[in-house]
Amino acid sequence: MSSLSELMLNVGESKTMALSALIKELKAEGKDVLSFTAGEPDFNTPEFIKKAAIKAIHNNFTRYTANEGDPELLKAIIEKFAKDNDLRFEPKNILVSSGAKHSIYNVLMALCNPGDEVIFQSPYWVSYPEMVKLAGAKPVVIETHAEEKFKITPEQLEKAITPKTKVFLFNTPSNPTGAVYSKDEILALAEILKRNDVFIISDEIYEKIVFDKEKHFAIGSVEALREKTITINGVSKAYAMTGWRIGYAAGNEKIIRLARNLQSHSTSNACSISQAAAVAALTQHSEEVTGMVIAFQKRRDFIVDELNRIDGIHCPLPKGAFYVFFDVSKFFGKTTDHTKITDSTSFCDYLLKEERVGLVPGIAFGNDKCVRMSYACSYEEIIDGINRIKSGLKKLG
Ligand SMILES: Cc1ncc(COP(=O)(O)O)c(C=O)c1O
Repeated sequence: MSSLSELMLNVGESKTMALSALIKELKAEGKDVLSFTAGEPDFNTPEFIKKAAIKAIHNNFTRYTANEGDPELLKAIIEKFAKDNDLRFEPKNILVSSGAKHSIYNVLMALCNPGDEVIFQSPYWVSYPEMVKLAGAKPVVIETHAEEKFKITPEQLEKAITPKTKVFLFNTPSNPTGAVYSKDEILALAEILKRNDVFIISDEIYEKIVFDKEKHFAIGSVEALREKTITINGVSKAYAMTGWRIGYAAGNEKIIRLARNLQSHSTSNACSISQAAAVAALTQHSEEVTGMVIAFQKRRDFIVDELNRIDGIHCPLPKGAFYVFFDVSKFFGKTTDHTKITDSTSFCDYLLKEERVGLVPGIAFGNDKCVRMSYACSYEEIIDGINRIKSGLKKLG
């Protein structure tokens, strides 16, 4: 066989997707597995959104739409940005894609040349390093820790910027840590970015899931950064619409044009029916949506409290998204008859095999001391899961 793509051989599979697939397999075999690996709300898509999709089917809104998205959805997105984020766009500034993941990939491809550097922080969302490599660029990771609430400082950012830096890839609220940058913290980072010739991709997919009166602030609304920032958002997390696959990118027309061109030769428009559903999600106010955030906050309080009662675990309080990310390194070096815990992977493997409880190893996010646990699940599952974790940890000597 002749050789395969060097580029693709250098890109690993999504660790979180692989783990979710393994857990589904175990469940299909009838095993009693409790999974806390999901990166999606456990709620159903609200009825009014489903109705809009059904109506679209009946109206035969089932053909190709414009590559960049149907004009009605572009209008809804423009209004959303004006209302929520003080961002002013025209249709030429927007590209609708098949999920925010697709949006980020399209924009990285539009911006990067070989040898360019893309800065982002760890713990990071699993796909950032691989997407950067796919775009031919080099990931540059700034490490953050629980003590600094998993946020980078302006000094760290300034130090990481070199003449090769092309993009600062920013994510607030963050997956996996749940960190939310305040407006002041963002303005401090903006001071550094203003002075440097760097683009910003701002991934705001968890914008709506923030707690404790925390407010999301869009970095693209800082006057000096408007032309340099591409803002990414979508409907997956805020409206429990992960399977519908609608994300969008908005910003500088020249960058968006290149991203549109790429999309026109790869996937074309996002699903027409999902686009109609997304219009409903973005334009109709719904108690269901605010209800989800309230439910997430209550579960967060519960799970953080429960985890912190376990000897050896300290779980910081996340301010957004629906994950807890906590240090388990106190258990490294511990053993049972058949296992030794040495890192986040062996920790998660042990709990999956021994107690049938699924957590994501922190190494998938660039931090090998921690694990991620999603609380997009019921209280019963959280209680059962915590008991299983406790039981597994007790067996370690
Ligand atoms: C930080 C972050 N960005 C982007 C995405 C992509 O979301 P989607 O492609 O479902 O819109 C995810 C999904 O898990 C995420 O966690």
